[in-house]
Amino acid sequence: MDAFASLQRSIEKLVQIKCANYKEDYIKRRILSRMRLTNAADYEAYHRYLLANPQEVNLLRNALTINVTKFFRDPEVFEVVRREVLPDLAGRGRSIRIWCAGCSSGEEPYSIAILAHELTALRPDVSVMIYATDIDAVVLQKAMAGIYDAKALENVDERRIRKHFVSHDDGTFEVRSHIKDLVKFRQHDLMSGIPITRYLDAVTCRNVTIYFTENQKNELARLFHSALGADGYYIMGKTEYLAREVEHLFSPYNIAQKILRKAA
Ligand SMILES: C[S@@+](CC[C@H](N)C(=O)[O-])C[C@H]1O[C@@H](n2cnc3c(N)ncnc32)[C@H](O)[C@@H]1O
Repeated sequence: MDAFASLQRSIEKLVQIKCANYKEDYIKRRILSRMRLTNAADYEAYHRYLLANPQEVNLLRNALTINVTKFFRDPEVFEVVRREVLPDLAGRGRSIRIWCAGCSSGEEPYSIAILAHELTALRPDVSVMIYATDIDAVVLQKAMAGIYDAKALENVDERRIRKHFVSHDDGTFEVRSHIKDLVKFRQHDLMSGIPITRYLDAVTCRNVTIYFTENQKNELARLFHSALGADGYYIMGKTEYLAREVEHLFSPYNIAQKILRKAA
């Protein structure tokens, strides 16, 4: 077995991530980034380092999952958005603006766009625009192309797939233009301020802050607070939380699904 194959074996065991789920090129790029940071000269050296340093297991897991996303990731959250958040926003005004921060390859903003499309079918007087940003230009290219493999669509039911995706001969699915048109993608570093006009109705920023320091997380909460309009929604990742210093900026709306609302 060569050095890379043997490293992959250990990764599967220790990190509990199936390397076969990813393109080899992607896995290699992520491992190389960890190798640079740990001064490992080659796969063998990094393998030894990984086995000898238990804290590296978590760091490698984070590096491997940094862009990981899928349509309707945590379906319960999207169910609350469909049933409660979007209808509430539709009741407030005719044009709804949502910022999806750290959108990776586009599955999250497109999932919201699908729900928005369903809403506007019932409420043609309402329009929705989703602004989706990420720091990583490579994932944004994929987001704009809007082409995904079947795995990304695991949580999308058949009816929605037929309605909102074109299925290609190579087994991929492309988001249809009526959904693409609801999302504007743009490269943006969350540490650099608000990229769009304020008074937003909702911000989603999910599974983005794993590398952020406590200070950066708090700055981000302040940023979202000032980006949102009155009673605007802030939707966090399931494992993310607000530190005590910034807790007062938001009030809980649905604690289990990590949906908050801007406090006055
Ligand atoms: C794991 S993905 C989350 C995707 C999606 N929000 C979800 O929950 O499925 C995290 C994304 O955050 C982006 N990200 C990390 N740091 C960022 C920053 N400072 N500004 C903007 N995006 C950032 C990464 O490029 C990555 O695409």
